[in-house]
Amino acid sequence: MTALLPTPEGSLVVAPLGENQERVRFSLVIPTYNEATNIVPLIKSLEALLTPQLGDSFELIVVDDDSPDGTWKVVQAILPAHPRLRLMRRQGEKGLSTAVIRGWQAARGEIIGVMDADMQHPVEANLGLLAEMGRGADLAVASRHVSGGGVSDWSAARRVLSRGAQLLGLLILPGVLARLTDPMSGYFMLRRSAIEGIELSPLGYKILIEVVARGRVRWIGETGYVFRERAEGESKVTARLYLQYFQHLLRLRWATLPSSSLFRFCIVGGTGVVVDMGMLFLLSDPRMLGWGLTRSKIIGAETAILTNFLLNDAWTFRELARTAPGLKRKFRRFLGFNAICTAGLALNVVLLNLLFNVWHVDRYLANALAIIAVTFWNYALNRRLNWAPGGPLSRRSRAPSFAAARAPDNSSTRGEAAP
Ligand code: GDD
Ligand code: MN
Repeated sequence: MTALLPTPEGSLVVAPLGENQERVRFSLVIPTYNEATNIVPLIKSLEALLTPQLGDSFELIVVDDDSPDGTWKVVQAILPAHPRLRLMRRQGEKGLSTAVIRGWQAARGEIIGVMDADMQHPVEANLGLLAEMGRGADLAVASRHVSGGGVSDWSAARRVLSRGAQLLGLLILPGVLARLTDPMSGYFMLRRSAIEGIELSPLGYKILIEVVARGRVRWIGETGYVFRERAEGESKVTARLYLQYFQHLLRLRWATLPSSSLFRFCIVGGTGVVVDMGMLFLLSDPRMLGWGLTRSKIIGAETAILTNFLLNDAWTFRELARTAPGLKRKFRRFLGFNAICTAGLALNVVLLNLLFNVWHVDRYLANALAIIAVTFWNYALNRRLNWAPGGPLSRRSRAPSFAAARAPDNSSTRGEAAP
């Protein structure tokens, strides 16, 4: 293998390894920008750590963006004495996320990973991560927010910013962020196959979110680590990165919308309105059957609940429905759906009254707000109580859930597939 790597060009896709291509167990990418003082000690401690575990079957790939402090020069000088070390000096393209992906593109590992060069990520956590991968994880993340993890000396302001960013992500992309205790982590590894052939387009720093949102990641393992203070060099985090993070979240939200169950739930809800209206017309319109309004509305609404249920069971929550087959259980879900939607209707009326009579909101705006609130209510309750594996309405609690079956110690493992 050559030690000096050319920078891959074109789209940010990690290709599968060729049949006859040399491969290693693990490729660790270390992005650097002005880390001349940190990089050599880091490389040495990584070699000391990984050689007993992996022998020759790993590589360390430094991706340097032509650092003014000459980080690449320092690395280049030690290449001959370090056979597992590779260097990519990028000129032109810049930025942390693309540096990492360019490094992965040049990597020959079945497992590919990333960590910082500045000693803030303790090297030892790599062993915990490799152990998680060995247990079958698709992605293993070093987290500051599980047992054994933490931040050493952060100011209250930085803690609040970090948690605030996490909360914002949870609101915009719950299906991704809820799977990670530390979505901001820049220290993780994954099975190459989880992102092979998928075009990545990250923005800013948060490449982990990109991987979870777009990759084929079923099982996520985590291990704790303490984020150390920087002793040498300085952080490149700026206010602009927070803005990029926000843009990145929105971009991922848009890209993953069709696969979001909330989105499907809303589409189904829309078809329900059409069914409800159509029934009201058929039953109550003087030109049609001309039945009483209340009777017609009740039959129409119940029909819409039935069609909504069938669509949600077959489409919105199909993966979850598949874990509990059989007509009897389907019927039980139908009853649960009915109960939740009826309670939702009551909530709708209460909200409409509050908004209109107490807060004097325009009646149509009030109705729209009430409908939006109830849609979230219906979705959340159905997802948690009715379609959740082992949920209280499903009476399946004795069957082991997917997560528990795959990982006996699920304190550190989140096994659930993304919705
Ligand atoms: N090639 C390249 N190009 N490397 C970069 C660039 C870049 O534009 N910007 C930063 N790096 C390298 C740094 O040299 C360092 O090795 C690593 O990326 C992280 O950059 P820092 O500037 O040290 O980031 P941080 O310490 O503030 O942020 C860290 O903590 C975050 C969690 O709060 C990083 O680990 C983030 O990934 C992590 O999300
Ligand atoms: Mn750092």
